[in-house]
Amino acid sequence: MLVLGIETSCDETSVAVLDGEGRVLSNVVSSQLAAHAPYGGVVPEIAARAHLENLPVTFEQALARARTDVSEIGLVAATAGPGLIGALLVGLSAAKALAFARGVPLVPVNHLEGHLFSAYLRGGGETALPVEKPFHGLVVSGGHAELVRVEQDRIAPLARTRDDAPGEAFDKVARRVGLGYPGGPVVDRVAGRGNGDRYRLPIGRTGDGSNDFSFSGLKTAMLRELGKRGVDGRPIDPESLDSDMTDLLASFQRAIVAALVDRVEAVHRDEGIRALAVSGGVAANSELRRTLSKWGAARRVPVLLPERGFTTDNAAMIAFAGLLRYRQNGARQPADAAARSRWPLGVS
Ligand code: KG4
Ligand code: ZN
Repeated sequence: MLVLGIETSCDETSVAVLDGEGRVLSNVVSSQLAAHAPYGGVVPEIAARAHLENLPVTFEQALARARTDVSEIGLVAATAGPGLIGALLVGLSAAKALAFARGVPLVPVNHLEGHLFSAYLRGGGETALPVEKPFHGLVVSGGHAELVRVEQDRIAPLARTRDDAPGEAFDKVARRVGLGYPGGPVVDRVAGRGNGDRYRLPIGRTGDGSNDFSFSGLKTAMLRELGKRGVDGRPIDPESLDSDMTDLLASFQRAIVAALVDRVEAVHRDEGIRALAVSGGVAANSELRRTLSKWGAARRVPVLLPERGFTTDNAAMIAFAGLLRYRQNGARQPADAAARSRWPLGVS
């Protein structure tokens, strides 16, 4: 049986085909970055229209690359939330139409659950199964920071961000420096040549004993530092940044990584982590990958990191999460699937 996944929750239109053991046969991602770039962020109305334009081509390419056609698809999985409602409706409606027309089941997938299991996906024709539970998951993206425990038949939320998401902090700081959108990849690159120990920046403990994250204090401290230096967001070539600025950005990245590792360590102390699956766009960050791998080696905890192509939004992870859900619970009637702009992890 082949699974077709559709992802349209934000600014990537993506369609993927997996086999029943979670081998990725194709994963086509069409980015809308260029359409949103002039506005410095994602414009919901433009996103929805671009999905409508891009989806048919992306769909055809995904089938062609998997060397299959629509008659082989036995299960459809589509992101139903959280995300931009107009954008979600494009992918979910296409998925419903396909499921109705072919008489196959449809699984509405939580985008965050897609990220959560993406650490298990392998390129090169390898299977993503089995997924051994329980494990802990850290989902860090442009919209979310979530630490959860994945049990046999439920996901228990342990900590989340109270304000900004880490990717959002990367994006806002990069925009103020004049490095464009998205900010994470360019800050990652620039920080690589800076000294991350030079500036002490806050790592946002909430102070009430919870393991929740908070990144707005760090963001504000950074914007203040940038203000002191007269930085006003005019576009700048990252190669031309001086060593003070690369040190500052490296220190900022280190503070984000330190905050994430700090909460992972706290949860490990509280309840013991058997394996940690890290995911979401920020899981592409080199320093986060390096630091968490070292943390895992020191604690003898396996740390699973998605291949970089599966960190940012993609439909392979949606197809895989849909496949896991289907194996566990089966599927409901396609007509019951509704798009939801908000959908916390762990809520069915
Ligand atoms: O998962 P994703 O594609 O979309 C959301 O669901 O939010 O994540 C996008 C976020 C952006 O904020 C982007 O700046 C960040 O992931 N990101 C990174 C890196 N690559 C992408 N952040 C830090 N380091 C990176 N290398
Ligand atoms: Zn995402």
